[in-house]
Amino acid sequence: MDQLIAIGLPYVTIIIFVVGMGYRFRSWIKTPQPGKMTLFPAPPADKSLLWPVIKESLFFPKLFKADRSLWIASWIFHAMLALIILGHLRVFTGLFDRMLAGMGVNVENMSATAGGAAGIVILVCGLMLLFRRMLYKRVREITNFSDFFALLLVLAIIVTGDWMRFGEHFDLEITRTYFAQLFTFSFVGMTLPASGLFWTHFILVQLLIIYIPFSKILHFGGIFFTQTLIQKS
Ligand code: HEM
Repeated sequence: MDQLIAIGLPYVTIIIFVVGMGYRFRSWIKTPQPGKMTLFPAPPADKSLLWPVIKESLFFPKLFKADRSLWIASWIFHAMLALIILGHLRVFTGLFDRMLAGMGVNVENMSATAGGAAGIVILVCGLMLLFRRMLYKRVREITNFSDFFALLLVLAIIVTGDWMRFGEHFDLEITRTYFAQLFTFSFVGMTLPASGLFWTHFILVQLLIIYIPFSKILHFGGIFFTQTLIQKS
């Protein structure tokens, strides 16, 4: 059973994610786009949509204008998430190590400080987003089970991640070997990390990855389709 989860589940996760995303993108591409709209005053004919869409995706300026406190919590949350994903890439692949060391940076120190700080800040922002959904009547009315499920799943991932970072001593080297073996399909005599906390974190992450194509978390993909339409008008 352990082997089935440790070796089989990551591949099942990737297959479901790729097929699910392919299906969603196909349905977005096939959705009929409105024809030419008559607008007054007429927008400039050759207005490029690239920069407005990138700006909206990176800085959420519309949300900034509409709801400042929600913007603060959600922008910092997403920025920390990006930092944490980059940090995980570095920890598991050693990517950027040589470049950072070349710049005279103590990579392990920087990773521990930045990773630890990002882990705490994202936890605070995630809790703010959760309490906002619970405490404000108007937000609670438009919140459904899937909103809570996604937030609680992400929060559980963050808590178990922080626990590994600040709590029990964790052997990253075994994790690196485990991932290298998964990537190279070397299953014979595979080394599996022994920490229950690591498996809880990793299985929750895989649940999240499987859930993404079927949930609202996919707004990170849909934004490129909806924003193109919004910016056109
Ligand atoms: C393949 C997927 C992932 C694996 C194998 C993994 C594994 C780990 C490990 C081993 C640590 C401890 C690092 C250390 O102590 O140096 C950690 C920390 C952490 N993880 Fe993950 N993780 C994954 C994905 C995620 C995702 C998607 C999130 C966020 C939603 C996340 C959030 C965190 C946080 C907040 C920490 C603590 C801060 C930090 O060390 O960056 N992890 N993770």
